[in-house]
Amino acid sequence: MKQTLRLFVIVMACLSGPAYLFAQNDALRESMDNTQDAKGDLMEAVDAQQGQKITAAADTIVKLLEENRKFWADKKMPDVLEMFDDTIGQAKAMSAMGKSGKLDGAKEAFAKLSTSCSRCHDAHPEEKLPK
Ligand code: HEC
Repeated sequence: MKQTLRLFVIVMACLSGPAYLFAQNDALRESMDNTQDAKGDLMEAVDAQQGQKITAAADTIVKLLEENRKFWADKKMPDVLEMFDDTIGQAKAMSAMGKSGKLDGAKEAFAKLSTSCSRCHDAHPEEKLPK
């Protein structure tokens, strides 16, 4: 009886780890999808040279990435956190640019932001999560 219980505990422990990670990844993907939507809004605002909309979309990106970053904070993956900070910093700079109304560099800034999203995706941190 004791043995059955112990086996049950071990099996549950093995199952709940990955299940927890899967649930987390679903939330991460959804948050990234929303980040993608905000990036689409940002691109439109840049094309239209609308400062207020640039700020709104950039602020949304900052908020979503800051939330997403929390998941990685305890994963002992400093390179991932550094990439989050880089992208968040660039989105913050675009937010400020939108406020200032000086939008000359907005297209370049947007291209750089896009590159920084891809830099993290190309590194596939989700495949390096401890199992
Ligand atoms: C520091 C890392 C990092 C940065 C920066 C980052 N992402 Fe992601 N992103 C991820 C990871 C990790 C996944 C994969 C999640 C998974 O599949 O478990 C992902 C997945 C995605 C997906 C696919 C979601 C899905 O449904 O599978 C989109 C879209 C996305 N990111 C958009 C963005 C955009 C737009 C930016 C920049 C504004 C960005 N990401 C910046 C780490 C990052």
